[in-house]
Amino acid sequence: MSNSIINILIDGVFMSELDEKTENGSVGAVEEGASGEQKAGGDSGTGYGVLFFIGAFVVCFLSGWLLFPNLLYSKKEQPFNFNHALHVEEMGGCDSCHSFREDGSFDGIPKTASCLECHEELLGETEDEAIFVSEYVEKEKEVPWLIYSQQPDCVFFSHAAHVVKAGMDCRSCHGDIGESTTTKTYEENRITGYSRDIWGKNIWGMKKNSWDRMKMDDCAECHQEETGSKGACFQCHK
Ligand code: HEC
Ligand code: HEC
Ligand code: HEC
Ligand code: HEC
Ligand code: HEC
Repeated sequence: MSNSIINILIDGVFMSELDEKTENGSVGAVEEGASGEQKAGGDSGTGYGVLFFIGAFVVCFLSGWLLFPNLLYSKKEQPFNFNHALHVEEMGGCDSCHSFREDGSFDGIPKTASCLECHEELLGETEDEAIFVSEYVEKEKEVPWLIYSQQPDCVFFSHAAHVVKAGMDCRSCHGDIGESTTTKTYEENRITGYSRDIWGKNIWGMKKNSWDRMKMDDCAECHQEETGSKGACFQCHK
């Protein structure tokens, strides 16, 4: 009886030296209480294995978490900074710049012409205004704004259906852009060419606010809640 245990122990020690990771677990049970010395040797091997595994996991995790989004998205600055808060205070509501045309379509980002009543000449001393006036107003050019919420070409979206018909707030899809004092950096997905605002910041795909992300599922989720149906493909695709 005791002989066979010793045999197993000896086997176990040799085996565990050859292949600590796989054999140690089962041998450990037999070793229990028999020899503290041998046991300690086996455990520290497993210890290093576990440490190595945790180390490798942390490295992979961090590189996925920190590096991947940085590699995936290229950062682009807007042509110059635009201060929403200042202009909203100056002009009242959003619709002095973002309004609906007579045919009901949304006119989007205002054209340079609509800024002329105030910026025909320099008003202040900021560098941003100087760029705007010298590069766009004087040259009669449109500002090539990068559009954070831009959907791919195959998607049909109507502001009238949401803002006029359903009475929705700009904030529920765009967050606090209307109250911001600076334009944020635009991030473009190198693979798809989409704006990061479509897929959202959170790499787990979690969202706290309705405007954190605007993928197909996000449109459909709200449609399900608000209208009781996700809608047919042709409603949102052209
Ligand atoms: C003086 C005119 C003006 C007013 C008033 C104004 N905006 Fe803008 N808006 C702009 C310009 C110019 C841009 C392009 C620069 C930028 O993205 O900030 C813009 C961009 C935006 C965008 C970004 C769209 C995208 O996806 O890139 C949103 C959202 C927006 N405005 C919402 C609002 C809201 C909400 C209000 C009212 C609280 C408002 N704006 C008032 C001129 C205006
Ligand atoms: C009702 C008048 C008015 C209109 C219309 C207007 N602005 Fe302004 N804008 C101002 C005032 C006032 C300032 C502050 C000037 C200062 O003291 O520096 C300003 C400042 C700016 C600045 C520098 C500060 C900043 O970062 O925003 C930029 C750039 C600018 N405007 C762009 C625009 C553009 C683009 C449009 C058209 C979409 C526009 N403005 C329409 C009144 C106006
Ligand atoms: C139901 C969500 C939703 C609401 C509510 C909403 N938007 Fe948008 N907005 C979008 C989407 C989606 C796009 C991108 C459309 C596209 O790519 O065709 C967009 C695009 C824009 C643009 C850029 C348009 C362009 O291409 O020039 C502006 C500016 C804008 N929205 C302002 C507003 C303002 C101001 C309000 C409130 C009056 C508002 N939005 C309400 C979802 C919304
Ligand atoms: C936060 C809620 C919400 C989000 C997000 C949203 N929608 Fe909607 N959408 C509505 C509601 C509510 C209506 C119904 C308006 C009505 O007809 O009364 C609607 C209607 C529509 C319609 C018109 C349907 C019709 O035939 O009248 C289209 C197209 C549409 N949405 C596309 C989109 C797309 C594309 C997105 C995502 C980029 C989107 N919506 C995101 C709430 C939302
Ligand atoms: C509520 C609006 C909505 C409905 C309904 C909808 N889609 Fe989409 N779809 C979108 C939006 C917004 C995108 C772009 C964002 C994204 O990729 O998630 C998209 C993207 C896609 C893409 C990827 C296109 C690309 O260039 O990346 C495919 C494929 C697609 N939809 C197929 C469908 C099919 C098939 C149906 C019907 C079963 C459908 N969609 C119904 C809104 C909708």
